[in-house]
Amino acid sequence: MNDTFLKACRGEKTAYTPIWMMRQAGRYLPEYQKVRGNVTFLELCKSPELCVEVTLQPVDLLGMDAAILFSDILILMEAMGAPLEFHEGSGPIFRQTIRDQAALDRLIVPDADEATGFVMETIRLLRQELQVPLIGFAGAPFTCATYLIEGGSSKVFWETKKMMYREPELFHNLMSKITDSTILYLQAQARAGAQALQLFDSWAGILAPCDFAEFALPYVQKILAALKQFDIPLIYFANNGATLLDLSVASGADVIGLDWRIPIGEAIKKVGNKAVQGNLDPFALLLPKDRLRERIGRLLEDAGNAHGHIFNLGHGIHQFTPPEQAKIAVDAVHELSSR
Ligand code: CP3
Repeated sequence: MNDTFLKACRGEKTAYTPIWMMRQAGRYLPEYQKVRGNVTFLELCKSPELCVEVTLQPVDLLGMDAAILFSDILILMEAMGAPLEFHEGSGPIFRQTIRDQAALDRLIVPDADEATGFVMETIRLLRQELQVPLIGFAGAPFTCATYLIEGGSSKVFWETKKMMYREPELFHNLMSKITDSTILYLQAQARAGAQALQLFDSWAGILAPCDFAEFALPYVQKILAALKQFDIPLIYFANNGATLLDLSVASGADVIGLDWRIPIGEAIKKVGNKAVQGNLDPFALLLPKDRLRERIGRLLEDAGNAHGHIFNLGHGIHQFTPPEQAKIAVDAVHELSSR
């Protein structure tokens, strides 16, 4: 069992810096495309055997030091009673948006083993196969709320901010319901065998720090506090979150995920005695081999003072990235960090 990733999360010494990549199972891999060619994305998410297969692909093909459960953050929103659609070439769609108390009242706080048993089954199957740790995950409440309120992806988040500022009570009620569901969902993942848990806050970066502190962070804190009992590493990743770092440190996470917009050394100073995960620009994978290795070497050096460093991209790997480039990065991290 390769437990380098878990050790780094706990700030323990490791023989080399572990690496995994957000969205490592996905469309950039021809092997994923092949599986996906026969089923829709949601069918894939609900088929444990296929989820196991695509979860293993980046570990086996590229040598990642951790696996991340193949699923989607919006699967839980669907289980709460919000019908979810994915169409080729466009993002997720919720036709029934949540913009008033009546719509919110129709959402439920589901029993995770009942409503998302396929996720727990995937985790149990993966644990029998994997030689590296398995990361479970969920969306952070603010990010999930934006999808429910907007009805899908957004650029300006008009409806979300309108609700936040004009109907704060409704907004907090929605956040509470997502939080309660997420706690049950992640507790079930931990019981099924997830060895670390990550909260993805993809849209936290659109918030002013004062609004993040008031409307988003308390719910992250509540979720992470409810997971402490499992004694597994908890990772909080706020995309575009460089200006929220001081607050994110108070989330209760053991590991702070970093996007690429902040030098890692600067972030490490703010994070103190917590581990960090990041933070190569996903598009830097397009650099020619020598320059990519150089860039990775510098990042590793700048992270030298971290109380634990897990190498990752600053956000998900882009779908048009050549898999060979991801492999160059994995090998470079392993070689250049070997001590
Ligand atoms: O990281 C992994 O390898 C595990 C799988 C994973 C997926 N989504 C698979 C996926 C994870 C961890 C996620 C998280 C997720 N999903 C986030 C948070 C991380 C982030 O990227 O900010 C968000 C915001 C979503 C919601 C979502 N899912 C969107 C907006 C989209 C469409 C955009 C896109 O990239 O196509 C998805 C679809 C999705 N989720 C795909 C995959 C592999 C592509 C679906 C396909 O095969 O067509």
